[in-house]
Amino acid sequence: MACLICLTDAIQYEIYCQPLELGDIGTQSINDVLPVLSSAIEETLRRGCVVQVKQVDQRNRSGALIDLAVALGAREVSGWTVAEERLAREAPPSLPLSTKDIREAISQGGDPLGEAYIRCFSAEERRPKGATYTPQSIIDAMLDWAEAEVTPIRIVDPGAGSARFLVSAGRRFPNAELIASEVDPLAALLARGHLAAAGMSDRSRVVVGDYRQLDLPAIVGPTLYLGNPPYVRHHLIGPTWKNWLVRTARKHGHDASQLAGLHVHFFLATAEHAKPGDVGVFITAAEWLDVNYGRLVRELLMGILGAKNIHVIEPTADPFPGTQSTAVISGFRIGTAPESIGLRRVSNLADLGKLETDWFVRRERLDAADRWTPLTRAGRERREGFVELGELCRVHRGQVTGANNIWISGEHSAGLPQSVLFPSVTRARELFVAGDVLFDPSLLRRVIDLPVDLDIFDELERRTIDKFLRYAKTKGVDSGFIARHRKAWWSVGLRRPAPILATYMARRPPIFVRNLACARHINIAHGLYPRERLDEREMRLLASYLSRSVCMSEGRTYAGGLTKFEPREMERIMIPTVALLSDPAFVESIV
Ligand SMILES: C[S@@+](CC[C@H](N)C(=O)[O-])C[C@H]1O[C@@H](n2cnc3c(N)ncnc32)[C@H](O)[C@@H]1O
Repeated sequence: MACLICLTDAIQYEIYCQPLELGDIGTQSINDVLPVLSSAIEETLRRGCVVQVKQVDQRNRSGALIDLAVALGAREVSGWTVAEERLAREAPPSLPLSTKDIREAISQGGDPLGEAYIRCFSAEERRPKGATYTPQSIIDAMLDWAEAEVTPIRIVDPGAGSARFLVSAGRRFPNAELIASEVDPLAALLARGHLAAAGMSDRSRVVVGDYRQLDLPAIVGPTLYLGNPPYVRHHLIGPTWKNWLVRTARKHGHDASQLAGLHVHFFLATAEHAKPGDVGVFITAAEWLDVNYGRLVRELLMGILGAKNIHVIEPTADPFPGTQSTAVISGFRIGTAPESIGLRRVSNLADLGKLETDWFVRRERLDAADRWTPLTRAGRERREGFVELGELCRVHRGQVTGANNIWISGEHSAGLPQSVLFPSVTRARELFVAGDVLFDPSLLRRVIDLPVDLDIFDELERRTIDKFLRYAKTKGVDSGFIARHRKAWWSVGLRRPAPILATYMARRPPIFVRNLACARHINIAHGLYPRERLDEREMRLLASYLSRSVCMSEGRTYAGGLTKFEPREMERIMIPTVALLSDPAFVESIV
């Protein structure tokens, strides 16, 4: 076997020990690998074969690779370009190489050309094009998932590199047309060699060019978009493409940030190329889950791309050896809007399985979240039959009035029409006193909530309202921060009554109260609004379960032992599913 080995101390070498397999020696110091090398050289000589060691001229490194790819049949794959022809012609003469062992390695699922390419070019050299090749175990898991989703007529690999995705996919889907999009003519040439050696030339096309400009003819039947879009930071992306991103995102109703990396461009380009019914599965760096410029990817996945599941691969799994990065695999089906998206974290590549998920988060929660990583982590230990509260209910903080002494009615507001006075929970203790159910609105204070349009009142009502507003102005309420940021400074804008009210800040665990008084609430309480219809029994059981089970440790504790639950934190509390709540044995255990 001819091996290309880079030993980067100061110099690089290509070492040929035909017919021995030298293994992956990579870029270690020559002293470290000398024992391996010398025994291989000895063995080669013992067999009467020739060992050749060549110091590699930087320009000549790819010579042997190009020769090999051409010898494997690269020219047979459709789309051969002038740039590749030039590479093939101008490649410095390399040693005469046998393709037999390379073919053998490819037939066994290996990617010797890709491996050699990675060894020949350092990570720094590959960085401007974002050329990081994907481990086979990840490709297999992504294909397992894709296979369960679709039988594609065509497979497109955006940024195909040496076509390791495409060749694996070609084996799974023996009738699919295979299209590699690759901007680098050398990588394209290797992709051709790989596809040809795998016997896929007649159904493959390598398009040398930019994926964003890929011209894909319309076909009947689904296309699978599969691959590892390049990770290139925005500093290396020119203004023309940055403008393309903004313009094209706008066409789809989204804003784009000029700080977006190239992988964001690839998601958008996929939204442009794909049609309903197509399926995609991409592995990328994970930053887009949380950073501002990743919002476009999040919006595309929740919109036109139709996310189905997201797998976060922790750095401990070392998805891209040596990079210490977190990777994320996104599976999507264009034109769908699933109610919930499967989320999963894996800390070991062996756990990827077939990319199945048993943890689902509602799309509304993903839509509302600025960062997705927290949603990939379970609030508490996951238990069979339990979900996060956010799956069942939205949690909203009560309205901030900006001046409770004015907006909670009293003598100063005497005479205001009843229609603007709303019985409201304005003190946490009102909920603690109520216990399980809040029945009686007459025990509550009233919050004044005037509509924006005051012309709806008759003359008499209007006179008392104006008097009240004049009074409020003398107290400077109209110029307060909150009032100035309302549609009309006088309109508090209470939320509709929440079916369940909860305290969220106390030196004791929160209490959850069924709100039969139809009380409104201000910002001393949170309101729980079920996303689906719950009947009275389920509602009470839920409130009762929450009051009995939520412990202080789930919120944030401040000095003095005060524990606070922000709405999003409250949504992370684990609760039984409605089915479990309806199980008498379970109910017995909690009441
Ligand atoms: C992360 S690598 C993935 C290679 C291969 N698909 C794999 O996973 O093993 C990304 C590839 O995209 C190519 N690339 C970079 N920019 C591109 C562009 N604008 N259009 C098409 N390909 C591009 C790079 O040359 C590189 O080969």
